[in-house]
Amino acid sequence: MSRKYIGVFDSGLGGLTTVRSLIEKLPQENVVFLGDTKNVPYGSKNREEILSLACNNIAFLRQYDLKAIVIACNTVDSNVGDKLRRESDIRLLGVLDPAAKKAAEITVNGRIGVLATEMTVRSETYKNRIHIYNSKAEVFQAACPLLVPMIESGDFINKKEATKKALLDYLKPLIAEDIDTLVLGCTHYDVLIDMCKKEYPDLKIVSSSRLVIDDLLEYLKDDLNDQKEVKRLYYVSSDPDKFIDQARLIIPNINVIKTGESD
Ligand code: DGL
Repeated sequence: MSRKYIGVFDSGLGGLTTVRSLIEKLPQENVVFLGDTKNVPYGSKNREEILSLACNNIAFLRQYDLKAIVIACNTVDSNVGDKLRRESDIRLLGVLDPAAKKAAEITVNGRIGVLATEMTVRSETYKNRIHIYNSKAEVFQAACPLLVPMIESGDFINKKEATKKALLDYLKPLIAEDIDTLVLGCTHYDVLIDMCKKEYPDLKIVSSSRLVIDDLLEYLKDDLNDQKEVKRLYYVSSDPDKFIDQARLIIPNINVIKTGESD
């Protein structure tokens, strides 16, 4: 039984969709979250920058006594996840592998679409991982550079039609390839899942935000928290006021602290 924290990080809002799943499945766990809003979006940065930002995020979280860290960012996981894991003395769970595995398992026609950031697409990690689980699958990827800024800024609520148009424009070429399964390969895109489902009700949709929590539960099964009072800390690296309204749509009672300021 351990009261240590579970650390979670992302470039911003997307990570909260993973925290929401964590709270649903492991409500008794202490959580410390970091959204690196100062540096969002990660998806257009180069690999060295992504590695350096991820290392900073991990160092920040490790100020807390942690039992595991969830990399709630496909861009980090796809580009530098394996390197980080090799060099870490604490368990780092990633969002990409469970999403790739699920998609590989549920496709019926073997045609899988992946929406993700530019750097996730460029890494080809989704393709490679899906092929490990289903060597016959065909994978069609689309990079969606407009979506993370639209989600971070709250446009997905305030400018819903524009966001929907951008999403459907990215999706269209994948639909034309007759995909039966779609991976939302960026944790930010989880907030668009209902839009996707409404537009394409027959598509099997896998959100990369959620499945990692099953891996976490399996990893922690003998090390769960038994306390009644749960601590949840949410940090961002800039502009908590800009973040909070969107954050409350994902986790209604959230309070956000800026890194460097005491809670
Ligand atoms: N939410 C992240 C991901 O899953 C990062 C998005 C970004 O900052 O570009 O890829």
